[in-house]
Amino acid sequence: MIDRDRISRLLAERREGFSLPQAFYVDPALHEADLKAVFETEWLFACNSCEIKRPGDYLTLAVGDNPIVVLRDRDGGVRAFHNSCRHRGSRICGKEKGRATRLVCPYHQWVYELDGSLLNARQMPDDFDRGEYGLHPVHVEVICGMVYICLAQSPPDLARFRAGVTPYIAPHMPDRTKVAFEMTIIEEANWKLVIENNRECYHCAGNHPELLVTLVEFALPDDPRGPAQFKQLMDAKTAKWDALGLPHKPADGGEEFRCIRLPFHEGAVSFTGDGGPACRKLLGDFTEPDLGSVRMFRAPNNWNHFLSDHILHFRVLPLGQDRTAVRTTWLVHEDAVEGVDYEIERLTEVWIATNAQDAELAEVNHRGIRSMAYRPGPYAPSEFMLTHFANWYAGKMEAFVGAPSPVRIAAE
Ligand code: FES
Ligand SMILES: [Fe+2]
Repeated sequence: MIDRDRISRLLAERREGFSLPQAFYVDPALHEADLKAVFETEWLFACNSCEIKRPGDYLTLAVGDNPIVVLRDRDGGVRAFHNSCRHRGSRICGKEKGRATRLVCPYHQWVYELDGSLLNARQMPDDFDRGEYGLHPVHVEVICGMVYICLAQSPPDLARFRAGVTPYIAPHMPDRTKVAFEMTIIEEANWKLVIENNRECYHCAGNHPELLVTLVEFALPDDPRGPAQFKQLMDAKTAKWDALGLPHKPADGGEEFRCIRLPFHEGAVSFTGDGGPACRKLLGDFTEPDLGSVRMFRAPNNWNHFLSDHILHFRVLPLGQDRTAVRTTWLVHEDAVEGVDYEIERLTEVWIATNAQDAELAEVNHRGIRSMAYRPGPYAPSEFMLTHFANWYAGKMEAFVGAPSPVRIAAE
């Protein structure tokens, strides 16, 4: 049962610049609150629209106990529905991905159109009104090919996000891509630890040898920790991107989202073992491979990298207070040919290794937090994005329990 007073007390305990009180990571009751306060109210990344390219293509996911189906309708639109039959509630689509001309419930074969309307319900009486029993819709927004869904009755406004990220992402033309590889890993850790781990690179030097061949660990163009070479690198790359008309400065996303273009190490153009291209066919109309990476994060469940030659989407969905599914998709140009333009192993090896390392880090973090000795610990300056995330999360929980926390702090 969700105890709103207790959540208010825990929010009031939260200290500025510190990790969260233990219960937020390990308590099943708090997890239940997370689902209600965050995952049933916010826009969630579901997939790239290229995964449901043709009418009838569908993809399923679960938001807490809510099975959802996202599909391409006959008119080419992207729609999402609760994947729960209006007869007696059976889950309808069971596969993770598929293609169907109509959605047929496996239980008693009620048949739904791709617009969610109930087409046929066999053996029901003559006065049965099929119009009353269409699938319950879920809100959908497609932004630069990225499909976001929202289970709330009245979703939050996405206009700022759309306007903020589009100039960075649109040149990479995500809607002209295809999935080269996808992978879901289950991490034995609370979803917030998975996000926190992603929001800082303090841990990179000690844990990500493959990633650091190419990735610059500084998250801000004027990071005071950055050596003189980093400033020179930034100056050289940003002059080049300015000439190409590609935005790179941090977008004004507040705590809701972050979007920035940052360079790879000098000489590197992609997330590969040697920094060379991962795909010979560049995305969109690009002719220049050295575009660094647009790093885009949107709370609560999505981070991405947009490179010259491929796109990485990461989707986080909680399975319980101590289990989280992390799905990674590697997208390449829709005309790129495997074995000619790209090799799966070269394209994926850096992030498969990095994901495994991050999973281990989140898992041991979770295990340590369960200790009776755990107390919230201080964020390092380079962990400023954790403060953003904690503030964002606390804001959602405050709105849910109806009590402002006294420890909200200014953004960076
Ligand atoms: S539950 Fe779907 S047809 Fe009966
Ligand atoms: Fe990491």
